[in-house]
Amino acid sequence: MGKLTTQYLGLELKNPVIAGASGFTGNIKSIKKLDEAGIGAIVIKSLFEEQIIFDANKTLKSGGIVYGYDDIDDYVGFYEKKHSISKYTELIKEAKKTVTAPVIASINCASSGQWTSFAKKVEAAGADALQLNMFILPFDTKKSGQEIDDEYVKTVAMVKELVSIPISVKLSYHFSNIFQIINRLGQAGADGFVLFNRFFSPDLDINTLEHTSANFFSDPAENILTMRWIGMLYSKTTKNLAAATGVHSGEDLIKMILLGADAAEVVSTLYKNKPAVIGEMLKTLEEWMDNQKFDSISAFKGLKSQKDSLNPEVFNRVQYMKHYGELKK
Ligand SMILES: Cc1cc2nc3c(=O)[nH]c(=O)nc-3n(C[C@H](O)[C@H](O)[C@H](O)COP(=O)(O)O)c2cc1C
Repeated sequence: MGKLTTQYLGLELKNPVIAGASGFTGNIKSIKKLDEAGIGAIVIKSLFEEQIIFDANKTLKSGGIVYGYDDIDDYVGFYEKKHSISKYTELIKEAKKTVTAPVIASINCASSGQWTSFAKKVEAAGADALQLNMFILPFDTKKSGQEIDDEYVKTVAMVKELVSIPISVKLSYHFSNIFQIINRLGQAGADGFVLFNRFFSPDLDINTLEHTSANFFSDPAENILTMRWIGMLYSKTTKNLAAATGVHSGEDLIKMILLGADAAEVVSTLYKNKPAVIGEMLKTLEEWMDNQKFDSISAFKGLKSQKDSLNPEVFNRVQYMKHYGELKK
């Protein structure tokens, strides 16, 4: 067991740097590059619930062909779904054959609908774990927050029934009570949580009046929310925590582990700094551990979490009143 080894979702990772789901993990060539650069685990680009449904609908409507017979429509829909799925499962199989790092499949979902049966296929393809990237956009004015939470819990419970590989849930921070949803999802079978997802955000160009996309990649300053919640959740759950969003450097990684993360998922830094950044992050981590005389990740994991911090109130302080008062004009 190496000095940087960490346990995550029942898997032994040789280090805590995980390549998060992105275009980088959507083809075998760059998956191989990440492995060669020393990555601890790889989350394969997500198969989207909407993508599967969209593909099926697109085929049904293409060329003006609407078969109009339930059995044929079902068949074409089934064919398209199978096609998307088989491409995805082929990538998992290839990755498992090619790389040494654990391979985590991922599915982006917004409901406990029929897609859940696909989870079985990613398990059969050899994925070491499954990450569910769940977000239910709360736009239905008739649905209560409780009902939306229930849908998350139902989805995880359904997937847990179907597969025996570990499951992590990648969540947004849009919950009234993050502690409660994490506990409920944990009871439903989630083995770990990835905090937090970063959304694709639409923007507007006021000159062309076109819709555009805002800030495709994260900035390290965005990781403060992740730090707060990892620090607060560490002692409140026995499940694994992976930090995500804004982890760009070895220093960011060290902070996340000190606060209680078992690992960190990185994406933007891979795009901005190339896979070589993995080696730099690990070098920073190892040198820091040597200087601080920590001989394992578990020796300092959670040391600065809310539970173990000598200054736990820093996590609860959210309003600026005191600081505004002190600011000099
Ligand atoms: C090009 C690109 C593609 C992405 N694709 C996915 C995806 O398929 N599934 C997913 O859960 N997240 C996806 N994400 C989100 C990332 O996994 C990650 O959560 C987000 O970029 C925040 O992490 P970062 O700050 O390290 O970039 C994608 C992000 C980018 C930039």
